[in-house]
Amino acid sequence: MEGIKLKQIGVSFKGSGSYVPDQILTNQKISKKVDTSDEWIKSRTGISERRISSPGDNVTEMGYEAALTAIQMANWDIKTIDLIVLATSTPHDLFGSAPSIQSKLGACNAVAFDLTAACSGFLFGLVTASQFLRGGSFKRAIVIGADQLSSFVDWNDRRSCILFGDGAGALAIEATNEFDNFLGFDMRTDGGRGSFLNLPSKNNKDSIIDNIDFLSGGFSSIQMNGQEVYKFAVREVPIIIDELLKKTNYSSHEVDWLVLHQANQRILDSVGERLKIPGEKILSNLEKYGNTSAATIPLMMDEAIRNNRIKQNDIIATSGFGAGLSWGAALIKWG
Ligand code: ACO
Repeated sequence: MEGIKLKQIGVSFKGSGSYVPDQILTNQKISKKVDTSDEWIKSRTGISERRISSPGDNVTEMGYEAALTAIQMANWDIKTIDLIVLATSTPHDLFGSAPSIQSKLGACNAVAFDLTAACSGFLFGLVTASQFLRGGSFKRAIVIGADQLSSFVDWNDRRSCILFGDGAGALAIEATNEFDNFLGFDMRTDGGRGSFLNLPSKNNKDSIIDNIDFLSGGFSSIQMNGQEVYKFAVREVPIIIDELLKKTNYSSHEVDWLVLHQANQRILDSVGERLKIPGEKILSNLEKYGNTSAATIPLMMDEAIRNNRIKQNDIIATSGFGAGLSWGAALIKWG
């Protein structure tokens, strides 16, 4: 390669967007459905209300709206987008919803696909898209996190139905050879603990003809061991972020914002405490939206970017965690 100077390709963060459905389900209203109270939900989770998709909404529509606002912030010509990654566990079409978003956007030069990793989905999607940019294959990418868990919640199970809501968020990222604002990442899964939180298929055996049986499609509702998921999150998330900070030579004092998957305020507080990151640096909007699964991180980031909390060059430590079990962390510099 004599004479050829290869330039390192980095990632730049150019825009954010989000969308939530109009219908608001407050704790007071949920208390009319299951035996719970505003006081119980707020004190155990920090959640006051969540958004619920009406029959006209779906992941494709929500993801499209979030992506469009991120593209507008980035000020991109839509035809210059190369890649669209949609992180979702609740696609409108099980064969993939990302191509429908691509078509609705008119992103005719992009390739689009879905990625499933529950509440870690956005983080995993961001890492995936970044690798395509760093590898030099693509220049511009949209990463969307969108979920409609209201369709899979057992609305008679007070242990889980209080937690979840619907929404979407997106980031626009671009390859650049001037700097690299994707400072580092780590990702883990442990299927051995997967039964703590899952959304299994219904396992309905049916028969086609004679002795040829098959499993008919369809999913049951979210099954969750809340205490185990809680213990998993408060143990693993500080470890993965701490290791990432060490690996990238950053200290927790240099982190401007901790943007965690918005599952439970007590998890956010506990992780912040373990990392010695003060409460005013821990972004939270779960009071308004509950746990929107793959959407929480970009939904939170978009809100903080638009109200000028996250500013150019701010250092953000982010972590997604949840079903799989799966978890991951990324350290980024905004801009
Ligand atoms: N209202 C009133 N009482 C309730 C409710 C409710 N909504 N839910 C449970 N209880 C009761 C239980 O029945 C139990 O009563 P009992 O002692 O008489 O049996 C009591 O409250 C305590 O129940 P716990 O399950 O021990 O409550 P806990 O303090 O652990 O809080 C919670 C439950 C909020 C679910 C908590 O465990 C948690 O947040 N876990 C993490 C869950 C999570 O974040 N999941 C999503 C991960 S992301 C993803 O991938 C989708």
